[in-house]
Amino acid sequence: MADGFASVAERAAFIAGLPKAELHLHIEGSLEPELMFELARRNAIPIPFASVEEVRAAYAFSNLQDFLDIYYQGMSVLVTEQDFHDLTAAYLARAHADNVRHVEIFFDPQGHTQRGVAFDTVIAGITRALSEARERHGLTSKLILCFLRHLSEAEAEATLDAALPWLDRIDGVGLDSSEVGHPPSKFERVFARARGLGLKLVAHAGEEGPPAYVVEALDLLKVDRIDHGNRSLEDPALVRRLADAGLCLTVCPLSNLKLCVVDDIAAHPLRTMLDAGLAATVNSDDPSYFGGYVNANYQAVADALDLSRAELVTLARNSFTGSFLEDGERDRHLAAIDAYA
Ligand code: HPA
Ligand code: ZN
Repeated sequence: MADGFASVAERAAFIAGLPKAELHLHIEGSLEPELMFELARRNAIPIPFASVEEVRAAYAFSNLQDFLDIYYQGMSVLVTEQDFHDLTAAYLARAHADNVRHVEIFFDPQGHTQRGVAFDTVIAGITRALSEARERHGLTSKLILCFLRHLSEAEAEATLDAALPWLDRIDGVGLDSSEVGHPPSKFERVFARARGLGLKLVAHAGEEGPPAYVVEALDLLKVDRIDHGNRSLEDPALVRRLADAGLCLTVCPLSNLKLCVVDDIAAHPLRTMLDAGLAATVNSDDPSYFGGYVNANYQAVADALDLSRAELVTLARNSFTGSFLEDGERDRHLAAIDAYA
């Protein structure tokens, strides 16, 4: 065992008690099959599965697109404000149980407006659950609107227009969905407008796409964080640049395994990233589809790579230093980690 842990169980307990932030979580990807069935019944939406077991069996993916096809189909059961509230409340309860103290949540409004669900319905339900979690658990949050990159920039612009009345509740914009063939450069203008509105900026890059997409996200979109970023490791100059800038990477180990970004969890590049001085974090991405929430992600990668106490503390610290929390709040969480460790 790595430094100081007597057993795998002791390390698991250390992970469970560690104060953490989650920075890469698609709220629609937290839709558990049980809730999918309940909402399908509530809204009389047909779904092509006979049982929860059948749904789980369908979650075998060979790449990002395989997953996205089933992810967009799954979210079709989300219709009312209450649905979005219940989805978000269920995720926040799981996060709280994992000792997650702060979350930065993505949502995909275009996955809903394209089906005739109003933008306002989506955001009202999500933000109601976020407010309740803050009151009940002291769990704080930021909300990040993602543009679907397989759609046009004009459609992203229209989505940003729909968000304008809600800017007091939206902290940033991101870029997700099918990466290859949809480079960051396609969204340069809408990101510039979001920046002008004072929003934080993030983008998925280097999950399946080449390191050049990470460079574009930095140079053209001027992002504050990179979501995934795994393929940055193929470009040593980019690695140095990311490390020098202290730019946070929101890494998702179980997602990488399920989407075949890595062949084996033991081959996950998380330690390589830390050793290169990258500000990597551990996140769950789409926990219902990829088989685990934050602690399960820490656990899987800690066991496979035999992560040390110091490495786990670094990952948790990175999750707060990479967050969009105000300085005082961030420092309070970092002090809590130090006290724990
Ligand atoms: N990558 C890209 N788009 C996504 C993902 C992801 O991991 N999850 C939900 N949308
Ligand atoms: Zn993601």
